[in-house]
Amino acid sequence: LRSASQLVRRSRRDYSSAAAAAGQPERKVAILGAAGGIGQPLALLMKLNPLVSSLSLYDIAGTPGVAADVSHINSPALVKGFVGEEQLGEALEGSDVVIIPAGVPRKPGMTRDDLFNINAGIVKGLCTAISKYCPNALVNMISNPVNSTVPIAAEVFKKAGTYDEKKLFGVTTLDVVRAKTFYAGKASVPVTEVNVPVVGGHAGITILPLFSQATPATNALSHEDIKALTKRTQDGGTEVVEAKAGKGSATLSMAYAGAVFADACLKGLNGVPDVVECSFVQSTVTELPFFASKVRLGKNGVEEVHGLGQLSEFEKGGLENLKGELKSSIEKGIKFAHAN
Ligand code: NAI
Repeated sequence: LRSASQLVRRSRRDYSSAAAAAGQPERKVAILGAAGGIGQPLALLMKLNPLVSSLSLYDIAGTPGVAADVSHINSPALVKGFVGEEQLGEALEGSDVVIIPAGVPRKPGMTRDDLFNINAGIVKGLCTAISKYCPNALVNMISNPVNSTVPIAAEVFKKAGTYDEKKLFGVTTLDVVRAKTFYAGKASVPVTEVNVPVVGGHAGITILPLFSQATPATNALSHEDIKALTKRTQDGGTEVVEAKAGKGSATLSMAYAGAVFADACLKGLNGVPDVVECSFVQSTVTELPFFASKVRLGKNGVEEVHGLGQLSEFEKGGLENLKGELKSSIEKGIKFAHAN
């Protein structure tokens, strides 16, 4: 009879040869908050991603069931569920990308800032564990308010001596996904061909879609149309919160957006050239220490933070308007990290 450890070694070999046969490196992805509204469909999408060889699903409850369920899908990623803090280390160890959708979502009438106290504490705890168990992983922060949770993560990593500004990302892809969908609908262009950069932050007026740079370009949209599209993109989250009427915020579209961004991170790590996505990162694009803009992803995470390009007068106004709120959300995160 073979011992358990021989069996583990055997299955590791099998799966590394599967990755090698496909000509790509093995990649481990961990999802923290994997049993939640975002976490479950995100786990499904990452299980379908051929770049993932190992998928680690962590939550404070419910992950054994989610992991058993997702693991039956006949794609290469090996799925493991981890539950409770004592299993967090094992869940994280060896991760290349850690995606964090842990925390409470908004209810009608709440702003993303109202979530601050609960989610700030959760993020701080999880990032402390990341700095211990997988300090080199790319961290994809989904937990809101992103404008504050990303600075909190940075402070936690700095304190632990593991901060690398190239490896910390606030996931703003859902804003881009929404801007693309709404623009395509209004401009009557094929949605799959649309690109729209979204810059700034990830809450209300800090979300600044740059429709003047949208492709395919159109002159079919009036200034009023652009204003309405901008507002709808900024309020997209609230649109879903109200439609769900107390049952949470965006989960399915967010899982899609999270999967798109994590896939871009994996492609960058694997050396695919010219992978560009918008993300909220440490930045010198404006005077603010963190800012969302187009980012080129590579083997070390952020390879290049792109500037804003040419802005319309309307977008210039939006940029000036968002700075105050974004600055105070960033400062709130830093203050929390120092005080707790
Ligand atoms: P949810 O309540 O359905 O799921 C959250 C999960 O986190 C739960 O399974 C819970 O058990 C888990 N959790 C709580 N504390 C944890 C801890 N210490 N460690 C690990 N897991 C923990 O919430 P939902 O809808 O999935 O939203 C999650 C977060 O994502 C919220 O903060 C929400 O505001 C944010 N969000 C972000 C978006 C973005 O564009 N960046 C869009 C939509 C939501």
